Amino acid sequence: MGILGARGITRNFGDYPALRGIDLDIYQGECVVCAGANGSGKTVLSRILCGLAAPSSGVVYFKGTPLAECSGLRTHIGLVFQDPDAQFVGETVYEDVAFGPRNLCFPPEKVHSAVSGVLKKIGLDAKADWTPRSLSGGEKRRLAIGGILAMGCRVLFMDEPFANLDWTSVRMVLEIIKTLKQDGVTLVILTHELEKVLAFADRLLILDNGLLADGGNCEDVLDRLTDRRGVRDPRRSVKTAADCTWL
Ligand SMILES: Nc1ncnc2c1ncn2[C@@H]1O[C@H](COP(=O)(O)OP(=O)(O)OP(=O)(O)O)[C@@H](O)[C@H]1O
Ligand SMILES: [Mg+2]
Repeated sequence: MGILGARGITRNFGDYPALRGIDLDIYQGECVVCAGANGSGKTVLSRILCGLAAPSSGVVYFKGTPLAECSGLRTHIGLVFQDPDAQFVGETVYEDVAFGPRNLCFPPEKVHSAVSGVLKKIGLDAKADWTPRSLSGGEKRRLAIGGILAMGCRVLFMDEPFANLDWTSVRMVLEIIKTLKQDGVTLVILTHELEKVLAFADRLLILDNGLLADGGNCEDVLDRLTDRRGVRDPRRSVKTAADCTWL
């Protein structure tokens, strides 16, 4: 079993089955990209794999222990929300990034150095005193990533990290992903914007109507992709999966 293992995960909303029996392993240090059409279940799945929501049935294991029995899960597994506004907790950009490290009882000087480093990385050091509400959509998304980065989680989920970002911001997020990958952080990126990130992916998963329809080597999965999955093969505009990045 991987560092994270999902077994028989279902999630029903009333009688609507949003997830229909997901078995999945995420291995330490890998970068997995999960794609799927709108409504295929990416966000629901990511919240369950992080322990932020419970499945209707099935179990998620972290290092072999069911998530429900794991203590201090937030220090190990981070999730950057699809909707950044849902994630902000601080009155200012600085306070927002500092919230996680403070909660984890970092000593004050470590909080300050973590926050300063992160603000530089996400390009918001000049706006440290602004309120999160006053940021642009792309800046909000970068701040949401920063808040999670500051906690130093070794497993990180990013739900649509490129939504609403301009070219510079996409590159900023890609640089962060690249560094995290080099540092051995386990990454799961849920997105349909494959052309931006597939170069970093060790594995590609396809979600289709709540089912894990395919998974494996990026080129192989793209070769098997059919239009009915609702995911566009990014190689239509470039030659190979290794070319798929905006970096
Ligand atoms: N709280 C909820 N109540 C009812 N249905 C829900 C709820 N959350 C999600 N769903 C349904 O579950 C399905 C999967 O939703 P999810 O948000 O996981 O899709 P997604 O793949 O992330 O889509 P997108 O690409 O638009 O972000 C959708 O049909 C959605 O309507
Ligand atoms: Mg989603």
